[in-house]
Amino acid sequence: EKGGYATFMEKEIHEQPHAVADTLLGRTDADGNLTLDELHVSEDELRAVTKIVIVACGTAAYAGTVAKYALERWTRIPVEVELAHEFRYRDPVIDEHTLVVSISQSGETMDTLMAVRHAKELGARTVSICNTHGSTIPRESDAVLYTHAGPEIAVASTKAFLAQITASYILGLYLASLRGSMAASGTDPAEVMAELREVPAKIEKLLGSMDRVKEIAYYMADSRSVLFLGRHVGYPVAMEGALKLKELAYIHAEGFAAGELKHGPIALIEPGQPVFVIVPSPDSEHGLHGKVVSNIQEIRARGARTLVIAEEGDEDVVPFADVVIRVPRTPALLAPLLTVVPLQIFALQLSTAKGLDVDQPRNLAKSVTVE
Ligand code: BG6
Repeated sequence: EKGGYATFMEKEIHEQPHAVADTLLGRTDADGNLTLDELHVSEDELRAVTKIVIVACGTAAYAGTVAKYALERWTRIPVEVELAHEFRYRDPVIDEHTLVVSISQSGETMDTLMAVRHAKELGARTVSICNTHGSTIPRESDAVLYTHAGPEIAVASTKAFLAQITASYILGLYLASLRGSMAASGTDPAEVMAELREVPAKIEKLLGSMDRVKEIAYYMADSRSVLFLGRHVGYPVAMEGALKLKELAYIHAEGFAAGELKHGPIALIEPGQPVFVIVPSPDSEHGLHGKVVSNIQEIRARGARTLVIAEEGDEDVVPFADVVIRVPRTPALLAPLLTVVPLQIFALQLSTAKGLDVDQPRNLAKSVTVE
């Protein structure tokens, strides 16, 4: 049942190329228009949306945070991402022109379900991005976009995360094509879909080059704290990397926005402190690549041990990196589908090195059906 892998998590990490490919499958009709699974919201209603609110918990919320960058860029609709349990009790400003997008692997997370019900009471249109057919959240939503990751057994989410990002991007592209909002960004939905279709092969390639990551995980098994830095879409990836390490290896870990470093977290840097840095592509806009390279330089000068995730061919990081982990080149907004993979493998290997239960970490449940 584990298909030759030692744990479900390892199996599910290796299923990620399929999770992305299958989620992309059958999304375009003969005319190249994007299609959703079940849509009980009219196109006119979707054109009238003035705000998108993404609600989710845990890893799904980080998928939503990644999605915010792409959705705002493509649709030009303001996007908020909120933990479902905070949204529910905050008296949010919502009306019939708000599209509330819930993201949930199980479709049964009580906090997320309550947020969806609250959104409906307030008159919002609701879309569910979900991995489980017929579960409660999609049943109660106006529209559903299923992720096709297949059953996820390991408590810590991996392939569902990639599928959730993929599905949110499909939703973003659909809204963008309805509203004709992408022209300004110099691209179009078909182009991004074509780039997305290249991602599964890139994940496959990446999975074949993880030996160094596994090695560092083994000699870092005694770490007391690991920090993760990222910027733009790399920021939620940093938070997800930290979450995986907490969940699986019970190590204190925190993800920060790299730009925030000088506003506080740099005080944590002392000799030997391991820091993963997710570096944006050298092609990124606004000089983000150079800014993150400077951050690596700053923390290295203070003795940090820098574990750098960078694109193939990015030589600027080399002088300041103790370890460089390479990911295939891809457009900036799609990078999280690759950069998170080494962080998943790292947490898995570290958990294994400590002799812990990878699939069933202590105190956690796959689906939390109580508030
Ligand atoms: C947590 C799980 O309790 O719920 C996480 O341990 C998961 O792995 C989170 O990300 C949200 O779950 P779901 O099913 O709503 O995506």
